[in-house]
Amino acid sequence: MPDYYGTAAMIRVLSDPEALSLKAAGIFVQQAQSSVNRRGRFCVALSGGRTPGRLYEILAGPLFLNKVPWERTHIFWGDERCVPADDKKNNALMARQMLLDHVPVPPDQIHPILCHEAPAKSAEHYRDLLYDFYGGGPPVFDLVLLGLGENGHTASLFPYDEILKDQDAWTSAVYVQEQDMSRVTLMPAVINRARLVVFLVSGDSKASVLKEVIAGPADPFRLPAQLIRPESGELVWLADKAAAALLDL
Ligand code: 6PG
Repeated sequence: MPDYYGTAAMIRVLSDPEALSLKAAGIFVQQAQSSVNRRGRFCVALSGGRTPGRLYEILAGPLFLNKVPWERTHIFWGDERCVPADDKKNNALMARQMLLDHVPVPPDQIHPILCHEAPAKSAEHYRDLLYDFYGGGPPVFDLVLLGLGENGHTASLFPYDEILKDQDAWTSAVYVQEQDMSRVTLMPAVINRARLVVFLVSGDSKASVLKEVIAGPADPFRLPAQLIRPESGELVWLADKAAAALLDL
């Protein structure tokens, strides 16, 4: 099939959402262990949305809990919705409830995107946090988890948003009109420096957009997920059968 991503992307189709989450958990563990072996720490940016919930539960469950070097893991997020910290739409809250409250990751190694101020300020603070953490150099995540929206967005990179034209910013604030919600997002300039980027895509409502993003012509202003092309890292798409139904594999 015509492959927009060329040979750099691996596409794995799993039978159902459970198999998808188990596969993602296996990749998470492997990347965590090899990052700690090589560099002494594992830096991961989690995604929001519903799809990764089961992955988070699996990582906190008996099969995987002891396989991740949590004491050497640093947790970040790919994006955050600017809602109160106790709102169930908050990505950090979801990850805490399903994962972080149940694993021994040191609290000072959890680096949420805080939306306590105006979104633009919050984005600046997240940038400063990354700047300090990475000692002034550009952030290089060991793993970035991402989802895919039905409109082709990923993280909080939404179709036709002017921020998509910015190739240098590390973080940005966005306002999503349909949801009347501001968000803060990592930008492609950072995501694309990651050592490994994994998309999790589940369900038939994603089938047509997944096909367009992966196999359609390049149109990243309309399909921002196409902006994700790691410079030297790996890109893996994990899709369940329903999401992959229209792919010509
Ligand atoms: C968010 C996200 C977003 C998400 C996709 C897919 O905070 O909303 O990070 O990019 O990953 O919208 O969401 P689902 O997994 O819920 O389909």
